[in-house]
Amino acid sequence: MRVLLVGGAGYIGSHVALRLSERGHIPVIYDNFSTGHRRFVDRFEVIHGEMADYECLRHFLKDIDAVMHFAAKACVGESVSMPREYYATNMTDALTLLNATVDAGIGKFIFSSSCAVYGAPERLPITETTPRCPLSAYGHTKAAFEDALKSYSAAYGLKFVALRYFNAAGADESGMLGELRSTETHLIPLVLKAASGQSAEVSIFGNDYETPDGTCIRDYIHVNDLASAHVNALDLLIHKEESDVFNLGTGIGFSVLEVISAAEEVSSLPVRRLVLPRRPGDSPVLICDGTYAKNRLHWYPQRGLTEILRTAWRWQISNTAVEQAIVC
Ligand code: UFG
Repeated sequence: MRVLLVGGAGYIGSHVALRLSERGHIPVIYDNFSTGHRRFVDRFEVIHGEMADYECLRHFLKDIDAVMHFAAKACVGESVSMPREYYATNMTDALTLLNATVDAGIGKFIFSSSCAVYGAPERLPITETTPRCPLSAYGHTKAAFEDALKSYSAAYGLKFVALRYFNAAGADESGMLGELRSTETHLIPLVLKAASGQSAEVSIFGNDYETPDGTCIRDYIHVNDLASAHVNALDLLIHKEESDVFNLGTGIGFSVLEVISAAEEVSSLPVRRLVLPRRPGDSPVLICDGTYAKNRLHWYPQRGLTEILRTAWRWQISNTAVEQAIVC
């Protein structure tokens, strides 16, 4: 299948492109390169285009069989202070993509949703039927786009899979792909920067949560496990032609302090920490129940926190110079 990956030059999209091509599909990358990287996708067909550009999308959707949508603003904390930008990209522009997809007669759509749609659920682990109750503008935009997919599916016959990622982390084992941002906000790369001496310390956003050590707990899922879930989701749309929603996580939660300790172990270097107040929009605990994805998507995460940190550490060490160039 020829699959258009919108936002495909970014962190998750580029890993998915690689897995798709390994499984015999043809990834076509559509990206505006605002945050994506050409070198992540230089072996594939690449289109430089905006998600908000309906005509451009229609032109390139002509010979496409399925669409995967990765292009989003995705920082929970930032979304609380900049909701306008989040609604513009994650809703308005994303609806342009959805309209172009439907108008082009394409019936398969895979959406990067998020466990941020659940907010702070009372019951853990989180299943797909846990009520959605987002705490941040980011989570609201993801929930709203899921709703749009349901409405479009009912009215226009589009089949979709929404994948609710828990915390994506780690890097491709090849050392060619990983997290690379001009401004980093995610815990694991920031902890590893502190370990490598690129920063003085890592901030801990709150140590007064009702968790065993007072810091937030997340379910970290390796980016290549997420990537294989996309290929399985495409198979599901090809063979079953039914829309569905899946949680993608390992089912194991780690606190911020546990992540820092594990990073110290993997890097064999100490990490200095600074406790700060809570970050607005953060849930105390997010842990996935992946039973449904196992049963229906035949998807089993293969890698745990140590593997995530090992691959991310290798990536971090080999890309320090590149990162510094980007920041400058
Ligand atoms: N954290 C710190 N210090 C930091 C950065 C993060 O203590 O410097 C904490 C956060 O408060 C949170 C945890 O580490 O408790 C993880 O934070 P990240 O920023 O790494 O990830 P988020 O959980 O905020 O968000 C990520 C993705 C979202 C996705 C979400 C699902 O960016 O797209 O995971 O939990 F929705």
